[in-house]
Amino acid sequence: MGDRKPLISGNWKMHHTHLDAIAVVQKLSYALHDDDYDAVDVSVHPTFVSLRSVQTVILADKLRFVLGAQNCHWEDHGAFTGEVSPSMLAKLEVSYVIVGHSERRELFGETDDMVNKKANAVFGAGMTPILCVGETLDEREAGGAETKVDGQVRAGLAGLTGEQVAAMVIAYEPIWAIGTGRTATADDAQAMCALIRATVADVAGDASSSIRIQYGGSVKPANTAELMAQPDIDGALVGGASLEADDFARIVRYRRVSE
Ligand code: 13P
Repeated sequence: MGDRKPLISGNWKMHHTHLDAIAVVQKLSYALHDDDYDAVDVSVHPTFVSLRSVQTVILADKLRFVLGAQNCHWEDHGAFTGEVSPSMLAKLEVSYVIVGHSERRELFGETDDMVNKKANAVFGAGMTPILCVGETLDEREAGGAETKVDGQVRAGLAGLTGEQVAAMVIAYEPIWAIGTGRTATADDAQAMCALIRATVADVAGDASSSIRIQYGGSVKPANTAELMAQPDIDGALVGGASLEADDFARIVRYRRVSE
């Protein structure tokens, strides 16, 4: 995987109150050490209402986690009841914002166009998007997985500069593997991540060698090392197994399993 530093991200989805979030972050900080952060970037993505609390803990205890959000709107401010803008997140020292998670696309009607606007807006506010892509089981069984993912990547990257694409993250999350306990095989995950990198090369040239591509979908301590050993997989976007500090710490320390 060249010199791309892995990024392991915990997407807590709609779990944990702000008090629970503080407790998990503190527990995680006891479990991880400088050599872990030297080897792997670690981001945690609590709900909006927990961001300020987690930011405060990170600052006060000088933790080496990176703060992430799960979503944002693309406008900077305005009459968008219930939405949160990129500049509001940036002010909370959020670094990464997930855009286009399959749950946002499937349950809340987000289109490729909306996801692309979000990716551009996240960069506009000085943060980095984690663009999620992935196919349904029906699409995979019908032989359409590659076409779907290729299209999502092209749509997601529209309007971004090569420099931005090089700095961003794409998460390949096959929808049928999310929360199901079914993980893509390391070979299948690698094949799709290689395809994503080829698409990025087609759209943004050399940026493809720097962009980080995560795999997500039932990542657990037991399967992380094998996934991370794949040449085009540069990290993991972890849902369920990131909710408990012990499991998430074991995922971040996947190297120790394989060594
Ligand atoms: P699980 O790890 O629970 O399958 O969730 C994956 C995911 O959607 C992360 O964004």
